[in-house]
Amino acid sequence: MQFIDLAAQQKRIRPQIEAGFKKILDHGQYILGPEIGELEERLAAFTGVTYAVAVSSGTDALLMPLMIEKIGPGDAVFTTTFTFIATAEVIQLLGATPVFVDIDPETFNIDPLKLEEVIQRVVSEKKLMPRGIIPVDLFGHPADYRSIQTSADKYGLFVLEDAAQSFGASQNGKKAGALARVGATSFFPAKPLGCYGDGGMIFTDQKKIYEQLLSIRVHGQGADKYTNVRVGINGRMDSLQAAVLLAKMAIFPEEIELRQEVAARYDQMLAGVVKVPKILKENVSAWAQYSVLHPRRDEVIKKLRENGIPTAIYYPIPLHLQEAFAHLGYGKNDFPVAEKIAGEIFSLPMHPYLMSHEQERICTIIESSK
Ligand SMILES: Cc1ncc(COP(=O)(O)O)c(C=O)c1O
Repeated sequence: MQFIDLAAQQKRIRPQIEAGFKKILDHGQYILGPEIGELEERLAAFTGVTYAVAVSSGTDALLMPLMIEKIGPGDAVFTTTFTFIATAEVIQLLGATPVFVDIDPETFNIDPLKLEEVIQRVVSEKKLMPRGIIPVDLFGHPADYRSIQTSADKYGLFVLEDAAQSFGASQNGKKAGALARVGATSFFPAKPLGCYGDGGMIFTDQKKIYEQLLSIRVHGQGADKYTNVRVGINGRMDSLQAAVLLAKMAIFPEEIELRQEVAARYDQMLAGVVKVPKILKENVSAWAQYSVLHPRRDEVIKKLRENGIPTAIYYPIPLHLQEAFAHLGYGKNDFPVAEKIAGEIFSLPMHPYLMSHEQERICTIIESSK
């Protein structure tokens, strides 16, 4: 059994991917070729934003908007402690300070009440300048943007949506990537919409931000390639990745539907057996992961492994306890909710092509380890 079955997906669209590759081999524009513009248009329309900028990875998709905000030493950017390191890494890379916040025990996303408390503390301490918030749509489930935006407006902070895991999700009918002024997603192969290498995209309605992103993507270029108006990065996407994504987009809405069915079957089969994920009523999740809680997680995982069923732990160590952030001075029990969940959570196989008999097998094994 596969944790994520990319082969089943490829089988459906292989001729289209090959046709896309052939076109690129013929025209030879390997970087920022015509497929990039086509993909940007397609995904901007899908997401419901005016501008989309295809970039080299989800990490760069987070980094580039932060470069525009000119965050640096002395600045505080608030984010969840329960995420992939890239979310906080980009803050630190620019010399600013990631300020962590605990999570909601039901959704695993940043807790808006605790966020407000932490912002107030930073304001009153007067050591760091509060600048922005990066909420993460963990496992494909959008964070609580209404509450987060209220705090952001109150303190004059920007909000950058980390939609790396949530492309295809929505909140109150609005698509992930469009839930804040700027959104960033990842096309890492295992993501809901994944390419065959690294890739990412930035979404915004703001023309000025869009223009700056185009410049930063190509080393801060100005009117042409050899006029540089700022320091940027090599943040470009290659055309082959865009061809993969364009082929996948033809079946992506259907795959998001199939993911809902897979998740609903897990919900039903696992009710009362393990703690299943909670989805807010205003949200549709992209189900990047289906993550459950079990107090004896390691035993359950072992039993599943013995039966050929792969699992994964996202995330065993919250960021405030990672060595990379040791200098920030956090310690054990600083974020008790995230720490408890990190000890109990694990993710089950999740992809659009998971069959109900496979899920039954998984759930029977979990139930027998109760
Ligand atoms: C929450 C989150 N943020 C950022 C990233 C970074 O994306 P990438 O791996 O494409 O750089 C990832 C994915 O790996 C992620 O899960």
